[in-house]
Amino acid sequence: MFKKLFGKNTSKEQPFSDGSMDLVKGEDIPTHIAIIMDGNGRWAKKRSMPRVAGHHEGMKNVRKITRCACDLGVKVLTLYAFSTENWKRPKSEVEFLMRLPEQFLTSFLPELMERNIKVEMIGVMDSLPEYTQSALRKAMDETKDNTGLVLNFAMNYGGRAEIVMAMQQLMNDVEAGRLTIDELNEQHISQYVMTAHLPEPDLLIRTSGEVRISNFMLWQLAYTEFWFTDTHWPDFDEACLKEAISVYQNRNRRYGGLKGEETN
Ligand code: IPE
Ligand code: IPE
Ligand code: MG
Repeated sequence: MFKKLFGKNTSKEQPFSDGSMDLVKGEDIPTHIAIIMDGNGRWAKKRSMPRVAGHHEGMKNVRKITRCACDLGVKVLTLYAFSTENWKRPKSEVEFLMRLPEQFLTSFLPELMERNIKVEMIGVMDSLPEYTQSALRKAMDETKDNTGLVLNFAMNYGGRAEIVMAMQQLMNDVEAGRLTIDELNEQHISQYVMTAHLPEPDLLIRTSGEVRISNFMLWQLAYTEFWFTDTHWPDFDEACLKEAISVYQNRNRRYGGLKGEETN
């Protein structure tokens, strides 16, 4: 029934054009979906447009996918928007990217409120420009009491930087006598990373054909299901999200153990 249960989706067109996207089951919707939104530049290049036009289109797509995730009953949607390595890009591109939260959140905030969506972020806020910080702070503050979907932006986020910061806090607590080295376990580490209050991602999606995680959620992805597609982020629509979810629903998550008939 599923052509690509484990492999990479190589189709560039709408997946499941036979309408089988209805295969998404109401139950077993992934609680937490994380997306590496890649391919804005290539989307623009294909159309002989500047890279930033791809980023603008990508931002518009964040709305579409947020609405769809919300309607499907996803609880947490983490979107990788800017990595700690993306500072290496040309200054003009970085500046454009830093303006996007302001643009996106100002116009989308009323709908986020209407939909009971809570905005959060992971990453290092302090080194973002003031206007980026204030847009994020305003959205987080205004939506803080919302109880629906958590829309979690990974902004100036890097998995290794996160682990370093977690280790620093942990060592502080050891020095202060709040924790001993012998007590330390995996649950402790989970409490020191930036997603301490969130469940780990069930499903990771990366768009645009690269099959790597580019320093994303290194601790949290230990047992996440991965789904890669060649579709560039601005073209990743509701049908693509549903395809990823339907594939996820047919995976067998064993966590190192055995399931069902395998135990006989
Ligand atoms: C993703 O698109 C957006 C960010 C990383 C900020 P890219 O800008 O990486 O697009 P490609 O990979 O160059 O096509
Ligand atoms: C990952 O994409 C980061 C984001 C989507 C924000 P990149 O385009 O930066 O990743 P690499 O450089 O191809 O690994
Ligand atoms: Mg890229």
